[in-house]
Amino acid sequence: MNKNIPVEEPNNIGIPLFPAGMVHLYKAPKSFLNDLDLTQITFQKYEGQTKLRSEKFNSILMQSGFEEVKSWVEECANDFLTNVLEMEYEEFFITESWLNISEKGGYQKMHNHSNSIVSGVLYLKSLPEHPGLQFKRPASEMQPFISLTEHYSRGNPHTATTLGFPCTQDTMIVFNSHLYHGHDESKVESERVGIAWNGLINFIQKDKNLYRIRFVKEDT
Ligand SMILES: [Fe+2]
Repeated sequence: MNKNIPVEEPNNIGIPLFPAGMVHLYKAPKSFLNDLDLTQITFQKYEGQTKLRSEKFNSILMQSGFEEVKSWVEECANDFLTNVLEMEYEEFFITESWLNISEKGGYQKMHNHSNSIVSGVLYLKSLPEHPGLQFKRPASEMQPFISLTEHYSRGNPHTATTLGFPCTQDTMIVFNSHLYHGHDESKVESERVGIAWNGLINFIQKDKNLYRIRFVKEDT
């Protein structure tokens, strides 16, 4: 949809045109880890990965004991869609969610989340020394070009090629699923624990005569 956005007075920051995506941080109302029992959860180390992860398709947020954290995650996702992306939609739902345990030496190479529109990661246990979550601007150049990357006088989220956020305990980072992200190797003895999730949307169907994508949960 094209919208006429009123142009404000120009300032020395400029107006970012068509950014790669949006990121928003949410502060949890409490330390959820205190009330969660993780002892019954099976973790695995997947091929090529350095971290322990619960089974992705055995969605952790759907399990009993996780109702409160699931409800808060959904609340934040709905806020992100409504107030950050300003999207009109009918329904948001979490499609996958999993626990990550990142031990010393653990890292996450750059990746994005397929089959998902909105994603997030809630840090249940983290120290300030743990590596931050880095987002990477997708490369779009296909031919030789003049790189400006090394010539900016200071960091600026609108011109940077990577932007990092601290993975603060009891904070959730919510972002467009297509954004590439990852983190450096952890040099901290104690592990970091986080819940990551993916979510999809059913859009409002205004014209019933058109074919549209619509997700339906089947009874199995
Ligand atoms: Fe991820």
